[in-house]
Amino acid sequence: MISDPTFDLSADPAGIARAADLLRQGLLVAFPTETVYGLGGDARNGNAVAAIYQAKGRPSFNPLIAHVDSAQTAQRFVEWSDQAEQLATAFWPGPLTLVLPLREGHGMSSLVTAGLDTLAVRVPAHPTARALLAAFDGPVAAPSANPSGQISPTTAAHVRAGLGGRIAAVLDDGPCGVGLESTIVGLTGDPALLRPGGVALEQIEDTLQTKLHHHQSGDLLTAPGQMQSHYAPDAPVRLNARSRRGDEVLLGFGPVACDLNLSESGDLPEAASNLFAALHDLNSTGRPIAVSPIPDHGLGAAINDRLRRAAAPRG
Ligand code: TXA
Ligand code: MG
Repeated sequence: MISDPTFDLSADPAGIARAADLLRQGLLVAFPTETVYGLGGDARNGNAVAAIYQAKGRPSFNPLIAHVDSAQTAQRFVEWSDQAEQLATAFWPGPLTLVLPLREGHGMSSLVTAGLDTLAVRVPAHPTARALLAAFDGPVAAPSANPSGQISPTTAAHVRAGLGGRIAAVLDDGPCGVGLESTIVGLTGDPALLRPGGVALEQIEDTLQTKLHHHQSGDLLTAPGQMQSHYAPDAPVRLNARSRRGDEVLLGFGPVACDLNLSESGDLPEAASNLFAALHDLNSTGRPIAVSPIPDHGLGAAINDRLRRAAAPRG
């Protein structure tokens, strides 16, 4: 294991240039996106991508998202389609990932796709992520910057707590705005929702003018990383709780008496942006966590997906 210190880089031109240099050297840099912090490595460099799996303790059958600066760049790596164009036009740059057939001569390390013949691509909206992609001028493979199976990071401090000493640097630009990972849509056959996330399903269906297929976890077509137990705090998590039991801490939603509230006004985007930081905070109390009911529409579907995985029996 690498035990060198992890540099803190600020999100100014010098910090971004240094981060791009580290990526060019095949080293790993965590960087902010509008969803969560990503753990970036050069997607064309097999050693860099292998180091991502190692730093996270991630199973190597679980493929990574390639981050690129534009839909035009994405088309160098994947077979484009009308539906891809519609979704990219509506939601890129932004919290949407598209899974498309790999294109001949794509140049990605086969570790990025875990040997699949498809690639997940995303154009992030965060200005610092965009500046880093521009300075690096190549595809950046980036999973969420947390140890595999643990809560995703929405601040540089979360990254440091999980991966400090295992990666070259963290580019710090404050908390992430959306707070939940990107929505993943599979476009290799009929459009399918592979992971709910930062763009609501309803908006995607409106754009494509069609319903998406849904896949159950364990289904071959589900995003392979959608393990049952994920985002797991150390303490047990109980969902749809109306009040505390025993020594639980209550994570509230809406006008309820609780220890920490995701959104007092019951606003789902606000709750999404607070979710992972709230789980990190409550986890540090060492007490069991109870969570108020959350409506299942809009971003609520993605919040409930993450909460169900946080509450799932540990494998
Ligand atoms: O918002 C996000 O998507 C963040 C930021 C950093 O961009 N990234 C992220 O990456 O959440 P990660 O690795 O934590 O989750 C990516 C998911 C995994 O569940 C993986 O299995 C799935 O994407 N995935 C990657 N490539 C795929 C492919 N070719 N087919 C199906 N699923 C794929
Ligand atoms: Mg993740």
